[in-house]
Amino acid sequence: SPSDPDLVARARAAKEKLGDKVFVLGHHYQRDEVIQFADVTGDSFKLARDAAARPEAEYIVFCGVHFMAESADILTSDDQKVVLPDLAAGCSMADMATAEQVAECWDVLTEAGVAGQVVPVSYMNSSADIKAFTGKHGGTICTSSNAKRALDWAFEQGEKVLFLPDQHLGRNTAVRDMGMSLDDCVVYNPHKPNGGLTADELRAAKMILWRGHCSVHGRFSLDSVNDVRARIPGVNVLVHPECRHEVVAAADHVGSTEYIIKALEAAPAGSKWAIGTELNLVRRLANRFAPEGKEVVFLDRTVCFCSTMNRIDLPHLVWALESLAEGNLVNRIEVDKETEAFAKLALERMLALP
Ligand code: 13P
Ligand code: SF4
Repeated sequence: SPSDPDLVARARAAKEKLGDKVFVLGHHYQRDEVIQFADVTGDSFKLARDAAARPEAEYIVFCGVHFMAESADILTSDDQKVVLPDLAAGCSMADMATAEQVAECWDVLTEAGVAGQVVPVSYMNSSADIKAFTGKHGGTICTSSNAKRALDWAFEQGEKVLFLPDQHLGRNTAVRDMGMSLDDCVVYNPHKPNGGLTADELRAAKMILWRGHCSVHGRFSLDSVNDVRARIPGVNVLVHPECRHEVVAAADHVGSTEYIIKALEAAPAGSKWAIGTELNLVRRLANRFAPEGKEVVFLDRTVCFCSTMNRIDLPHLVWALESLAEGNLVNRIEVDKETEAFAKLALERMLALP
């Protein structure tokens, strides 16, 4: 949908006034009206690296969700300020693992006598507290673009992995990329005593998966895949690894948002693609690649935006930029020093992965 021309002009003017003092990052799931003002766009991994590579910017405006802004704060210097244009832009998956629950889980693993063999690997989509827990216990962060390398590294450090908080990324990476079986994985449910697992199950498991998921990607089913294959003969099914295992197993290609874009850039004219990820990105790709004769459709028949990503809209971005241009620091995301130190350890292990 076309953006309001008045708001576009105001965003442009505020950005111009701020000049090099501001750097705007945009995740691929952001609305078109916001993406047009991003200095860089990317997946979670690329944005974390890009945020860290801008020491001259006093303000980092993060058009994405809360855990991304926290990670940017952790990776930038103390005098740089990270701003999230709407503080309500959270992530329901990240909220599925709290510090208290994860501490309790560690006690359960300790009582079962396995904690000493466990290396935590936490998905970027987690709070700074969970990242700090990960760093403290010798683990690393991963994103959907380096999960295999993170698991390779973790299994060099220990015999078991506690994967937080996305069970699907954990399971998909273990089974699809690491040659493990579904039986090597158990699911720890934070709402059940002892996670719903016996000590024997914990001892036998290689992957202890936290019972978290993304509700946006959870909407895709095996039916969505079968349906689109029947509807569009020859279609390539390309999905995000946050999708359920049966969806990933039935797909032709699996990867992060950045991977999805690269795959379409490399695709031949005349090819057809069904994409299983958030709808702002899929629509943008459909429009971008249509003139090149590449057909891009959404994997499911229902719409599927990430409602929290969508909270960052042009009015919020304009408000944030104009406030900064007037010298008012609004919506700063700041991680406390102790959490930051341990979370940084875990993030730096990820950045150092081969
Ligand atoms: P990537 O952009 O890293 O693929 O992650 C997708 C996502 O869900 C971010 O919240
Ligand atoms: Fe969180 Fe899913 Fe939205 Fe990504 S798409 S921010 S994992 S709710």
